[in-house]
Amino acid sequence: MTVTESATTTADASFRRMDESNAEQWAHIGRCTAMNQPRVADRILMLLESLAGIRDGFLTDQLTHSLQTATMAERAGADEEMVFASLCHDVGKAVSVPNHGAISAEIIKPYVRDDVYQTILNHQDFQGRHYYHHFGAPRDLREQFRDESWFALCEEFTDDWDQQAFDPDYDTLPLSHFEPLVRKITASVRSETSGTQRTGAS
Ligand SMILES: [Fe+2]
Ligand SMILES: [Fe+2]
Repeated sequence: MTVTESATTTADASFRRMDESNAEQWAHIGRCTAMNQPRVADRILMLLESLAGIRDGFLTDQLTHSLQTATMAERAGADEEMVFASLCHDVGKAVSVPNHGAISAEIIKPYVRDDVYQTILNHQDFQGRHYYHHFGAPRDLREQFRDESWFALCEEFTDDWDQQAFDPDYDTLPLSHFEPLVRKITASVRSETSGTQRTGAS
C-alpha cells in the first residue's frame, strides 16, 4: 500500500512561525487536512500489514492474532467500533511491545467511544489473569478497574477473544474483510479531547 502526500502548491500557507499565521491560512490547512483524512485508514492498514512480520516466539504472527481477535469479536456480535478496536488492539506492537496497549489506544481514540478506548488502553492488565503467574506477577491487576463502566467489556474482549486468538487452524477472516470498516470508522473524528491539534478540519 502506497501512502503519498500532495506536493506544495501556491495556495499552501507561507508562514514560517505559527505566531505569524492568519485565519485564512488555517482555513486552507483545515481543508487540506480534511481532504487527506483517508490517510488515517491507509496508515492503520499499513501498520496492521506490518504485523505479519512480527512473531516474537508466538505460534501465530501478530497480524493473524489481530485478525483472529477481530473475527472472534465480529462473530460474537460485537458492535463496529469494538470489532475495529479488536483489529487494532495490538497495532502498537509495530513500534514497541512494552507499551503497545497505550500506543494502540491512542491511535484509535479519536474514532471510538470512551469505553472502547479504555478497553484497549488497559487490556494488558486484564490479560495478566491468563499468564502472569508464569512470571511470579499478580494475576488480579484487573481488579483495580472493577467499578469502571467498561470492566465487563474489557473482560469479554480479553477472556473470550484476545487471549484465545493464537490458533493457526482457526478460520480467520482476511484483512480485506475489515478494510471497509477501518475506512468507515476513521472517516471522521468522533470527538476532540484535550491535546487535539486544531486545524479547523473537524
Ligand atoms: Fe496486547
Ligand atoms: Fe492481543
